[in-house]
Parts: sequence; structure tokens; C-alpha cells
Amino acid sequence: MKTVVIASNNAHKAQEIAEALPFPGWEFKTLRQMGVESDPEENAETFLGNARIKARAAQDACGGLAVIADDSGLEVDALGGAPGVHSARYAGEPCDDEANNRKLLAELADVPDENRTARFVCTLVLLQEDGEEVVARGTIEGRIGHEARGEHGFGYDPLFYPDQLGGRSLAEVPGEDKNAISHRGNALRALKAQLDGMNT
Ligand code: IMP
Repeated sequence: MKTVVIASNNAHKAQEIAEALPFPGWEFKTLRQMGVESDPEENAETFLGNARIKARAAQDACGGLAVIADDSGLEVDALGGAPGVHSARYAGEPCDDEANNRKLLAELADVPDENRTARFVCTLVLLQEDGEEVVARGTIEGRIGHEARGEHGFGYDPLFYPDQLGGRSLAEVPGEDKNAISHRGNALRALKAQLDGMNT
């Protein structure tokens, strides 16, 4: 049995990762299930850099086991890619989704529809026991709307209108439908394809 530690305590994220990588002989554990705490400062300038920081810290804390870590965020073209790696705390500490959404709407108040293009990005790092890295990235393209809509999801979902959803926000569709098109779902599918190719 190969234990893969998920460098997160978010149960929902852990379940999505475990379901997307159904390799026989792999068992997934969250940091909490491992009985360890790992909360390194995510001070890199890229999603990959921050995912690496989380993966390495978790591997150190778990005695060198394989680890999977992710980092994600929203890039808005009219804001030069902001909030980007600062998505969680865009409106400052502590992390507050509603405050972040209010700030985003204010920043884009004068930006016309055609220039409100944006994407969610997710980068995943699987750090193997021997230090080898497998990296995958997924995106979902869309636009920032003028009002929050929908009750599902989290973060910027109520303001993000994916190109594929014909005018519905990402918070207006259930979780399974979001996973089928989301940045995290796409990154997990890309990671699985790479691992399939390596005969893991
Ligand atoms: P993390 O990588 O899970 O820590 O996410 C960083 C931040 O990016 C979150 O706090 C959200 O603000 C934003 N974010 C990442 N993924 C999503 C998503 O699927 N929906 C909405 N917001 C997201």
C-alpha cells in the first residue's frame, strides 16, 4: 500500500483528489489524519511555487511519504492577472470571501463586459518519496459578472461566469457539474493522464 498525503485539511478537496486518482494500492490521508500540522508561509509569486512550498513542508512533516499539494486562484485580465496568488486574502486578513467579491466588483466597476475575461487556475504537485515531482495545471475560462449569483461552491464562484455555462455562474451549478469543467477537475485529469502514462 502506498500512502499519499494530501497537503490540505479541506475534506471536500481531499475527497475530490482521492476520487480523481483511483490507483489500486494507493491510500490517501489528509494532514489531520496523519496527526501532523503543516502550514508554511505561501510566499512564492506563482501557483507552482506555492504548491511546491506546501508539498515540501508536508513531506518533511510526514517523514518523507509521497504528498500531493495544490494551489489555485483567480486571474482577471483587466487587473493584470490579479488577484492571482493573493486570491484568498485579496481584501486583507482574515480570509473573507464576501469582502474579496466586493473588492473585485469595485475594481471592475468601470470595465465593460468584453474586457471582464478571467480564469481560475489550479496547479497540482505530486511529490514522490524519492523527490521526483509530477506537475499538472488546469484552467477554466470565463468572465466576471456584475452581480453575485448562486449558492453552491465557495470563493469567487458567485461572480465567475464560465464560458461553457451559458450565462450561469459557477455557484449556480452543483458540485459534480463544477468538477466536470473546473480548473481543479482539469488539473486532476491532467495529473491522472500523466500517471497513467507512467504506469503508476
Ligand atoms: P486555495 O488554493 O484552495 O487556497 O485557494 C486560494 C483562493 O483562490 C481561494 O481562497 C479562493 O478565493 C480562490 N479560489 C480557488 N479555487 C476556487 C474555486 O474553485 N472557486 C472560487 N474561488 C476559488
